[in-house]
Amino acid sequence: MSERYVIKGKRPVTGVVKLSGAKNVALKLIIASMLVSEQISLENVPRILDVDSIIELIYHLGASARFSSKNTLEINPNKLNRYEVDLLYGCKTRVSFMFFAPLLYKFKKAVIPNPGGCRLGERPIDRHVSMLRAFGITVDYDSSTGYYTASLPGDKFHGANYKFEKKTHTGTELALMIASVADSPSVIRNAAAEPEIDDLIDFLNKTNVVITRHGEDIDVVPAKKMSFSGSSYKVTSDRNEAVTYACLALATGGEIEIGQIKASDIAYFIDTAEMSGAKITTATNSIHIHKSFGLSSTDVITSPHPGFMTDWQGPWSVVMTQASGESTIHETVFEQRFGYVSELRRLGADISFFDPKPVSPQRLYQFRYVPGSEKNQAIKIKGPTKLHNAVLKVSDLRAGATLVIASCAADGESVVEGASVIERGYEDLEEKLKSLGVDIKKI
Ligand code: EPU
Repeated sequence: MSERYVIKGKRPVTGVVKLSGAKNVALKLIIASMLVSEQISLENVPRILDVDSIIELIYHLGASARFSSKNTLEINPNKLNRYEVDLLYGCKTRVSFMFFAPLLYKFKKAVIPNPGGCRLGERPIDRHVSMLRAFGITVDYDSSTGYYTASLPGDKFHGANYKFEKKTHTGTELALMIASVADSPSVIRNAAAEPEIDDLIDFLNKTNVVITRHGEDIDVVPAKKMSFSGSSYKVTSDRNEAVTYACLALATGGEIEIGQIKASDIAYFIDTAEMSGAKITTATNSIHIHKSFGLSSTDVITSPHPGFMTDWQGPWSVVMTQASGESTIHETVFEQRFGYVSELRRLGADISFFDPKPVSPQRLYQFRYVPGSEKNQAIKIKGPTKLHNAVLKVSDLRAGATLVIASCAADGESVVEGASVIERGYEDLEEKLKSLGVDIKKI
């Protein structure tokens, strides 16, 4: 099986990137489609391994989903006939626990293993479980098997007025799905605000549900019967992919146009890049990254939307290896998202960990913070550095994208081991990079 990319670097990329549909929207819409009773056609679904894993899971549960063209997925939820997700399927993707919504709705019971996905620290689902309980759901965890069992004692989800203790992206999405089929209206408070969540809201609003966001609070008036109006829905473009390619252009001194992107969805990234000296022109539906000269260092603190997304910090770190001065990145969302640091050092990057000494870590960190237990949460990058070739190992999806960018910016031939981890979330990476002039092959 082809598992590695071989990349000859040091060429500025040029050309136009057509973005794929967003992974973190498509996965949730596929699961939400299981709540309705008719067939739904989802357009612009990216052909990535995470989508394949969800499709396998759907078949395992008795329903079906098949591509009728490259990116159009026909989903038929009607034959859903199992409420138990096997570990074999559940462990492959983080979002498997979101099947709590359709399985509980259709069977009043769901048995789901502890979720898989990228290991970015502990990644517990305690906030999701507390939220489910607020809707009248009984949830038990059996640590000897690693399975959650959830049931509906009263046969119905009650509407709830629920405040998340801290923001959670997929937790908010699961709450929206549950509230959509509850027996009375709900308010979800301290809800996460990522644009991907608003895409799910838009989708659910086409199923007789009425969902309205008021900043961090979301009102949900459930559907009497979930039914999708229209026959198809288009997944929006992937803003994380947009930032990945933007970083590729900046790190290699290239010039690219990225189509199908709302600049406002990546505003914090654009502001940061411009502060560093990048020249970026935005149009209604595209952004243009101009050739950059003399980028300078920046200090970035990741945060939930509308801040600098945690998913962008890896790719941005490569740009900062080419900027002059000392840059910092402080990761506050996940407790282990610097899996790429040791690999960038192999390429010659001057990166070290430091203690950022936050004033109020309990408040700042989005992960479950235990005083004294914080690991390496911040890095310093000294630049500009000439990167050279190396053999690199991918630890997680965004770290993989980071290493691909770094290999494109480095002198000589590098090998990135772990292509399948990157292909969990990036469609046609090899083809897209080739079209921008990158010398890449998968072996
Ligand atoms: N957390 C808890 N308990 C919970 C839920 C979250 O402690 O019950 C912690 C997490 O461990 C993390 C923080 O809270 O430290 C924030 O987690 P959140 O729930 O917001 O993240 P997520 O829903 O697991 C999604 C995306 C991530 C993206 C984050 C931030 C999907 C499938 N995943 O993760 O995307 O980085 O939100 O926006 O939507 C990726 O695409 O590579 C990726 C990891």
